[in-house]
Amino acid sequence: MAYILRYCLMFCISILFSCTAQKKIVSANNQTIEYVLCGNVTKDMATISIKADKAGKCKINLIESLTGKIIKTKLLTVPDLADFIIKENFTGLKPNTKYTYQIFPEGNSSMLGGNFTTFSDKPFSYTFAFGSCMETGSNSDIFLKIKDENHLFFLQGGDLHYENIDSNCTPRFNEAYKRTFTSPHQSTLYRSLPFVYMWDDHDFGPNNADATNPCRKESVAAYHTHIPHYPFAFSDKEGPISQSFSAGRVMFILTDIRSQKIRPVYNECERLKTGTNFGSEAHLNWFLESMLKAKNEGKIVAWVSSYSWVNAPGGPNYKCKESDNWGGYPEERQRIANFLKEHQIPVFILSGDAHMVAMDDGSNSDYAENGGAPVRVFHAAALDRYGSYKGGPYSHGYSKEPGQYGVVEVIDEGKENICFKWYGKSKKGEKVINTEGKEISMEFCLKIPNKKAP
Ligand SMILES: [Fe+2]
Repeated sequence: MAYILRYCLMFCISILFSCTAQKKIVSANNQTIEYVLCGNVTKDMATISIKADKAGKCKINLIESLTGKIIKTKLLTVPDLADFIIKENFTGLKPNTKYTYQIFPEGNSSMLGGNFTTFSDKPFSYTFAFGSCMETGSNSDIFLKIKDENHLFFLQGGDLHYENIDSNCTPRFNEAYKRTFTSPHQSTLYRSLPFVYMWDDHDFGPNNADATNPCRKESVAAYHTHIPHYPFAFSDKEGPISQSFSAGRVMFILTDIRSQKIRPVYNECERLKTGTNFGSEAHLNWFLESMLKAKNEGKIVAWVSSYSWVNAPGGPNYKCKESDNWGGYPEERQRIANFLKEHQIPVFILSGDAHMVAMDDGSNSDYAENGGAPVRVFHAAALDRYGSYKGGPYSHGYSKEPGQYGVVEVIDEGKENICFKWYGKSKKGEKVINTEGKEISMEFCLKIPNKKAP
């Protein structure tokens, strides 16, 4: 009897022990997914960036939203390095299709997910929102407003945070991205649509940063690790991170005019040495050739230049020692303008930096030799910072209120013209007005250029 009792006791203990041990295995890692971003979206692919709090295995499901069908499921290993980030590329997707993704961390029943819609493979109409400049980790309601508008994507044009990093580089970039992307309202927006991002000074390095930023290499590496971006035009570890993508018949060219920037040299107001925003012939040529390629493919160019194109002597904000906007680089600007004129590139410029909504219809933006390149310009900022007025003048005026963003409606019915509606929105959801009380908005159509064989 005693033998049987002892046997039963041992059996129970072993069961209890094995259960505890098993429970320990299941919950051992207790991983948390801190944030998820979706980017690099085209007509048939997307990249999901997953940031966990520790290494381990997590599972990702990709679901076709309409049918609820799981298209792909994959076990991912979050590596024990690079801030516990992993990127997953989904290829072979259907165009113009909404997808849902779900990330399940290891040893944790929670799930973090979001949605994106692939671009159409035909000419199509869509809207996108863009803006720049927000406090580090901003939780402004403006991000929820943008989310509610169901745009195809959100374009952040610089100053994603204001950490001004020029020392202790990598840990501070990791922290800056974490604070930004774990902000509940930003996270809600970025999980509802693709995120497109080009930096400016405060998020690339210190205020008015240029190629001399001591954290340049780490900044490029941190962007590459954290952001689900389009393919870089250059693979150099020191940048630039310039990139481009097409949505319908618009090619977006995102130029990195911070990481390679060489400032002009002044003696008082006299410019002794010219500067360059692109920093090298190779970089500038890539930009010019990309615009020509767009034209030859029958596309309109949306050039994302983080800071003001419109600024020249006699302008309302021009200072004689300009080095942080195009006003300080008249030679390089004229070269670009001459190229636009020579090749008749159908282009407009999207900018931030200045904390304002402003538009110019070409009246003040023509810098080609003897004129001939009146390019339309749309500034949209600040998402969550105080206001400021830079460059100009602008034909449609400006608004330097805090809490603003820009909306672009692309109206493409597959005909020979493509039309655009531009307007600014406030975080209250109202249309932005200029200093004279008039709505800052513009509508125009551009002729689709004839395609040319490469
Ligand atoms: Fe800014």
